[in-house]
Amino acid sequence: MHSSRKGSDAGSTGSTGSTRSAGSDVLVIGGGIIGLVTAWRAARHGLRTVLADPAPGGGAAQVAAGMLAAVTELHYGEETLLGLNLASAARYPEFAAELAEASGVADIGYRACGTLAVALDADDRLHLRELHALQRRCGLESEWLTGRECRRLEPMLAPSVRGGLRVDGDHQVDPRRLAAALLAACEGAGVEIRRAAAERLLTAADRAVGVRLDDGTELRADQVVLAAGSLSGRLAGVPPHVLPPVRPVKGQVLRLSVPRAYAPFLSRTVRAVVRGSHVYLVPRENGELVIGATSEELGWDTTVTAGGVYELLRDAHELVPGITELPLTETRAGLRPGSPDNAPLLGPTDLPGLHLATGHYRNGVLLTPLTGDVMAQLLTTGTLPEIARPFTPRRFSTARQESYA
Ligand code: GLY
Repeated sequence: MHSSRKGSDAGSTGSTGSTRSAGSDVLVIGGGIIGLVTAWRAARHGLRTVLADPAPGGGAAQVAAGMLAAVTELHYGEETLLGLNLASAARYPEFAAELAEASGVADIGYRACGTLAVALDADDRLHLRELHALQRRCGLESEWLTGRECRRLEPMLAPSVRGGLRVDGDHQVDPRRLAAALLAACEGAGVEIRRAAAERLLTAADRAVGVRLDDGTELRADQVVLAAGSLSGRLAGVPPHVLPPVRPVKGQVLRLSVPRAYAPFLSRTVRAVVRGSHVYLVPRENGELVIGATSEELGWDTTVTAGGVYELLRDAHELVPGITELPLTETRAGLRPGSPDNAPLLGPTDLPGLHLATGHYRNGVLLTPLTGDVMAQLLTTGTLPEIARPFTPRRFSTARQESYA
């Protein structure tokens, strides 16, 4: 393992008022969980790695509930993504242990608790039956339960629950602890963290060569990874044909607190589609109960609205009436990095030297372990692993070129 490159002022050849670092092997733009895991795994493979972010460890992970919901969030037409999601879910126990050892953060809240997806009315029930059929066609473990069986598992459920799917393989992790652990692991592995925003991608001779930060510093690297979540489509200097088609999808999330006297309030994640909106309740071992999430196409807006909070509480209350007794401790909104096909963009772009790890949409927390693995393999060998090939960013550049032809 190398030690990190320190003293980035050395070798300055930048333009007036700026500083140019000596080059690293890898420069990661973005310090959310995807950027952090990429940097950590790259450094573990011996690559001199720099990560740039004004607030590393922040981003969507500070809002996300942390469901690892490969099976309960399955959608028609997303069977290829399912393979990636399942592979990452399977990686989680070992990944959590490795991360604990590397970071000193003993517990990232990985909890193998399972999930119960329930239905309140005839439409919900039909929707859940369709989901069950799709899950079975995909060979997934999911058991249909009557309303009574659901309440036997989770006594706080409303009497109106008419049935549900028991999915024992969909677990949870605490994304805030995950982010903190990844940041500590990066620091431990010698990743140089630059607390500034990437302002412009630097290119030379049709190749990405680094980035200029908003403090005027220029960082050079052999390989650049753009992993800036929903901001990934906005970096200046990225040629239009490789700019990732990523957009922000707002999610409002509530945090409640379950007093000890009420425990166990819920023993597993409970979720439903109520009047067409997803609602989920994720109980943590420390008493936190996370309720999410809205899904809103409102650009960069992160306002918590009365309507958003109302709808989440209304729908959650229909599932679990007892939530109205609990202290409401936090309301927050974050931005998922949505992509045109709801799947991530992983791998090299048509601009040599520039890779993407973005567009994880609803699956960023779930896909963190696998993203770290595939990006590290790409960065060390130059080859994108087989499992990630369907998610190459080039699937969009090709389509665009054809539509312009
Ligand atoms: N995966 C949960 C969400 O995006 O709301």
